[in-house]
Amino acid sequence: MSTATETEHGGWLGLSVKRKEDDRFIVGRGNYIEDIRLPNMLYMAILRSPFAHAKINSIDTSRASELPGVVVVVTGAILAEHKLAWMPTLSGDTQAVLATDKVRMQGQEVACVIAEDVYVAHDALDLIDVDYEPLEAVTTPQAALEAGAPLIRDDKEDQADNKIYHWEAGDAEATEKAFAEADKVVRLVTHYPRCHPAPLECCGCVADVNPATGKATIYMTSQAPHAHRTVFALVAGLPEQNIQIISPDIGGGFGNKVPIYPGYVVATAASLLLGRPVKWIEDRTGNLISTGFARDFYMDGELALKSDGTMTGLRVKMLSDQGYAFADAQPSKFKAGLFHIVTGSYDIPAAHVVTEGAYTNKAPGGVAYRCSFRVTEASYFVERLVQTAAYELGVDPAELRRQNFIPPEKFPYTSATGFEYDSGNYEPALDQALERVGYKELREEQKRAREQGKLIGIGLASFTEVVGAGPSRQYDIIGIKMFDSAELRVHPTGKAILKLGVKSQGQGHETTFAQIVAHELGIPPEDVTVQEGDTDNTPYGLGTYASRSTPVAGAATSVAARKVRDKAKKLAAHLLEAAEDDLEWETGKFFVRGAPERAKTIQEIAFAAYTDHPEGMEAGLEAVDYYDPPNMTYPFGTYAVVVEVDRGTGEWKVRKVVAVDDCGTRINPMIVDGQIMGGLTEGYGIAAMELITFDEDGNCIGSNFMDYLLPGSWDTPSFELGETVTPSPHHPIGAKGVGESATVGSPAAYVNAVIDALAHAGVRNIDMPLTSGKVWAALNEAGLAE
Ligand code: CDP
Repeated sequence: MSTATETEHGGWLGLSVKRKEDDRFIVGRGNYIEDIRLPNMLYMAILRSPFAHAKINSIDTSRASELPGVVVVVTGAILAEHKLAWMPTLSGDTQAVLATDKVRMQGQEVACVIAEDVYVAHDALDLIDVDYEPLEAVTTPQAALEAGAPLIRDDKEDQADNKIYHWEAGDAEATEKAFAEADKVVRLVTHYPRCHPAPLECCGCVADVNPATGKATIYMTSQAPHAHRTVFALVAGLPEQNIQIISPDIGGGFGNKVPIYPGYVVATAASLLLGRPVKWIEDRTGNLISTGFARDFYMDGELALKSDGTMTGLRVKMLSDQGYAFADAQPSKFKAGLFHIVTGSYDIPAAHVVTEGAYTNKAPGGVAYRCSFRVTEASYFVERLVQTAAYELGVDPAELRRQNFIPPEKFPYTSATGFEYDSGNYEPALDQALERVGYKELREEQKRAREQGKLIGIGLASFTEVVGAGPSRQYDIIGIKMFDSAELRVHPTGKAILKLGVKSQGQGHETTFAQIVAHELGIPPEDVTVQEGDTDNTPYGLGTYASRSTPVAGAATSVAARKVRDKAKKLAAHLLEAAEDDLEWETGKFFVRGAPERAKTIQEIAFAAYTDHPEGMEAGLEAVDYYDPPNMTYPFGTYAVVVEVDRGTGEWKVRKVVAVDDCGTRINPMIVDGQIMGGLTEGYGIAAMELITFDEDGNCIGSNFMDYLLPGSWDTPSFELGETVTPSPHHPIGAKGVGESATVGSPAAYVNAVIDALAHAGVRNIDMPLTSGKVWAALNEAGLAE
């Protein structure tokens, strides 16, 4: 099953083992929510608000209830009787399950029809009569904070305006001083627009509450099944041991399947009340307009520099459009996620970040769309600002980066806003990217092209990511500490089962986590079954998002396997009649030092654990580890993008993309490459075309794949990948996360490339997405249009 054998390769790490899970996916035997059909099952459809902001005068469900096949129509009023009309969000705010008093966004859930047939459920939606009284919609955070703006959360007693939070990080005084003493100050004002994770599979669930036992089995599209079980227990008051969340195969999550959505709650409540399973499958429009969006940060920042190019200070103000509820999935302490990592890869001694969030009449969410809690916005901003500074100083953007990189000898490095970077070595990644892209020659070509009236741009981004939350002392989500877990059982025949608290959505965990066990114990990956997603059968964990699986659950797997190895050593000593201290380990076996023929394989030892264990020792060979990481991991890299811009139309084409990534030890290089290519594609989509926007009445424009554009195979550039390896010093196998590096790092590289093509004419910023219309306007303004 592997492309090389372990023996040829010399180990199970760094080996491109083919993905075990693909065997079932490529023959159509995956098991997604839509595949689940239970006896006696009912179907649910959701009525959504056509208005962004409106008072609800009345909801008349009588016509819908009379449609043959309709079992019940659920409204907010019914839920209110069970204290379920509102639910908590992951940021400690509240969000309506079904609207009672008002609707506060277009697409908000107003009523649900439960019927014998899915088509009947949808037909009945048209028969629900809602009397709305439209109100003025607030569609930007700037407008939301103006005096006299309509109050969006008038349901909250202590909320007198639309402001959600004000949060600061860094040292204001030291930063002011740096700016006062600067030779040059460079400013960038830009918006990272609202986009959407848009997983191929939308959200859905089958809730099955057994009326005889009270057990609630909820099959749901969940990236965090254990945390969701706890939230269900707290919100619905159900005993937690009676709730089983099963997250089967998931068709992409990207952060979108971290929050709890009203559909899950109503389906579960309905199953509880009706005593029958209820299935809800979201449609694409529902997904795009009502579930966790991403980004939507307005950023205004400045960089202080010495005349020789040394960066001395950074200050950023950020205003966030949160929608009608503060529902970011992020560590509780950090109101703007990890945005304060905005100093990026640079040794900037002073920094200060001021952030504010505001309610608007839009969907809540602010999910970490393939990023670690807002690091994407931070990385985008600093990489754009550094590029801007290079133009203002008249120096080469690559050299300005190199000059200001955190030098390797300064690691572990504490940033001005309080992050402790575990390891890094940025210059080799930059050098490799420049070499592979042919940077020097390109700069020459760019000059010649300009003389001929052609526009070529070269964009760089030397990003630093921060992934793998905890440590739990610093990171929790609504009080649940961020750690993760692994439980490893080795069976008598030497085959093993590994149970994890995280949950893959396509990342290949069944393969890579089995490789970690193979590395630690010598049990080949094909003999290790990895189980995730069933809360009754896996140890508690916080789930998969923010690239935490490898840094946290990967470490838990290593440690659990090492615990198994410790017991295996005792068993081997018993079997070999030798002292433990005389034994040595070589992947897959213990042998007596100096007598390698006296050996016991892990398989022989496993058999003995159940058939021939010494007196006084418990039978069995298994271990559990709850791993609380001492720190996050800090993957990094340099991306280089080359574009050609058409002066006649504003269209831009990507000529080349080089991505050099460093995620420490690579477990499975093929899977890592796949993760990076996927991220580079998403980064391209965000830079070039993806946009969830709204008209002045709050109508969502971008509610289907005709309006919300995703890059297809025709649009997507091809990618050249490179790597450097700087292991994490605190991870048991030196691995850092990689799942989101490319989504975090690449948007700035694409945008920098287009700006670079126009920079000689003074263009410094075009807000994403860089549609040809916007580039055309910039060409005109700069006098470059043809
Ligand atoms: O949390 P999530 O699975 O999304 O992200 P990740 O931990 O960065 O891993 C994504 C995939 O890449 C997983 O299957 C990992 O095991 C694999 N990976 C790897 O092979 N080597 C690394 N250093 C990091 C991730």
